[in-house]
Amino acid sequence: MARLRVGVLISGRGSNLQALIDAAATPAYPAEIALVISNRLEAQGLQRAAQAGVPHEAIPARDRAAFAAAADAALRRHRVELIALAGFMRLLDTGFVEAWQDRMINIHPSLLPAFPGLHPQRQALLAGARFSGCTVHFVRPEMDTGPIIAQAVVPVRDDDDEERLAARILAAEHQLYPLAVRLYAEGRLRIGGNRVTVAGGMTADIAALNPAA
Ligand code: GRF
Repeated sequence: MARLRVGVLISGRGSNLQALIDAAATPAYPAEIALVISNRLEAQGLQRAAQAGVPHEAIPARDRAAFAAAADAALRRHRVELIALAGFMRLLDTGFVEAWQDRMINIHPSLLPAFPGLHPQRQALLAGARFSGCTVHFVRPEMDTGPIIAQAVVPVRDDDDEERLAARILAAEHQLYPLAVRLYAEGRLRIGGNRVTVAGGMTADIAALNPAA
């Protein structure tokens, strides 16, 4: 069966991209990475794509509309069906977001709607939260909003600093993102307003990431 063609947008390290590349290396995984786009030339994720033999492009356009036009053309050229934002640190043009409505997802290192925006791990520590985690959601024009597909919960420990908490959340991200892409690729997600239902229920894998989910 044809696999879902995923385009991944990055700005830096690309460890979530790597998790998706690794998942897609299994032939049974229902998605493949068709294209990686970075808005920064020096993003480490571009090297990861090169190493994995995945088509990749840097689009260092300063202007938001110019980036959107170039990215859109590249994504269509590579017949991308789903965009996965993975550490993409730039606001996207609204027209671009609307054009890819319900076909673009993002991962954010907090349990949204708590702690959107920058430094969510620092925000969780400052708020004294006992749990944080990560969220995969459909993208809407307003930053870090949109119907939630999947979340994973991570405890906040008394001796955590930002770096330790970020590392614990990142490990959960690397499990959650491939699982969420799989649900999409299997055609199991239904969006109703702000809620997503998963046909056949959440996979045991996602439940296993969460206490008593
Ligand atoms: C991740 O924590 C992701 O949730 C956030 O930015 C970070 C990107 O890390 N949006 P990486 O580039 O995937 O390693």
